[in-house]
Amino acid sequence: MGTLRLAPASTGDYRRLAERRLPRFLFDYIDGGAYDEVTLASNVRDFRAFELRQRVMRDVSSIDTSVEILGERWSMPLAISPVGLAGMMRRRAEAQAVQVADAVGIPFCLSTVGICSVEEVAAAAARPFWFQLYMMRDRGHVRDLVGRAAAAGCRTLVLTVDLAVVGARYRDVRNGLSGGTTFWSRLRGRWVEIARHPRWLWDVGMRGRPHVFGNLTPYVPEASTPEDFRGWVDSQFDPSVTWADIAWLRSFWDGRIIVKGVLTPEDAISAADAGADAVIVSNHGGRQLDGVPSTIRALPRIVDAVGKRLEVFVDSGVRNGQDVARARALGAKAAMIGRAWIWAMAARGSPGLQALLETFRSELATTMQLTGCTRVEQIGPDVLEAAE
Ligand code: FNR
Repeated sequence: MGTLRLAPASTGDYRRLAERRLPRFLFDYIDGGAYDEVTLASNVRDFRAFELRQRVMRDVSSIDTSVEILGERWSMPLAISPVGLAGMMRRRAEAQAVQVADAVGIPFCLSTVGICSVEEVAAAAARPFWFQLYMMRDRGHVRDLVGRAAAAGCRTLVLTVDLAVVGARYRDVRNGLSGGTTFWSRLRGRWVEIARHPRWLWDVGMRGRPHVFGNLTPYVPEASTPEDFRGWVDSQFDPSVTWADIAWLRSFWDGRIIVKGVLTPEDAISAADAGADAVIVSNHGGRQLDGVPSTIRALPRIVDAVGKRLEVFVDSGVRNGQDVARARALGAKAAMIGRAWIWAMAARGSPGLQALLETFRSELATTMQLTGCTRVEQIGPDVLEAAE
């Protein structure tokens, strides 16, 4: 702990700092996974299980971590995954994060359930950002929201498909964030926690307007508390969604569609057939169906099935630049991060996120150099030790 007073270095350091800064129920909301958190643990463990093959004496004095993906140049094969309620962790976190992502040169994806609206993020952004969409029951609202994203300059929709129903996160249940406790015990418990975290209270509670879900206010005008919005959001997840809805989306959206939350080759093929430009191999960071495989294990079969037809990205369990290299080695075009970025943002704001992303880039660079690669395109299966 002592070293954290000096400077956080790794993703784990930012996590510990976030734990100190945030009221417990918010830290747990980020940190937790579904049910017994088996998949949450295997996501991280399985990435690390792939050992890197060190190579030497290959002149790695000049290297380039940048890549071209979806017709754009990224400074490294990494993007920021959508995190709902980010603005509850740091004041106007989504608007802050898009600026950091722009400065670093990687894509930022705004969640449907962000605290900042697409309009607010657009005002802060220097270039087009991605917008993550949940297919709500009320398709009129979906259409309106997509229109707002287009008007805000978004050219890429990330359609999250692994939330037909919500997987129960028991830490949230225990903390009274999703039922199971009375209103009064919830409020009492929260105020004690909030009072213990004055820096969060000043930054977010008093100045951050964290109780309003910016993208959704027009559709739930009567909502005034996070509970009101959450109740509405939970009632809007639509278990009847099918691939045909992508054709419907296509009828009024002419930008890119990235399908997020695919874990099997069959579903990846369906996404390609539906005209998706990319898929994100994701288990929602272990927050939906506990017991599904880690994404890094699911990835190679999906790349085999659709890698020639569309781009394949992966998230869930990515914690450092070595994981980004492992994702590339196993066929992903890019890796994405959820918890890592929100821990850094919660802990140290924009400078924290900027430092974390620079750390990812330097870890990736070192990994490339010590596995004998000077360009991202050279990172292939041969940078990994073969499984015994
Ligand atoms: C998420 N995730 C998510 N995904 C999405 O499509 N829309 C959302 O609103 C959210 N909200 C959200 C909140 C929090 C607190 C977390 C941790 C995650 C999932 C996210 O985009 C991503 O798939 C995972 O976070 C990736 O796993 P790691 O990087 O957290 O291990």
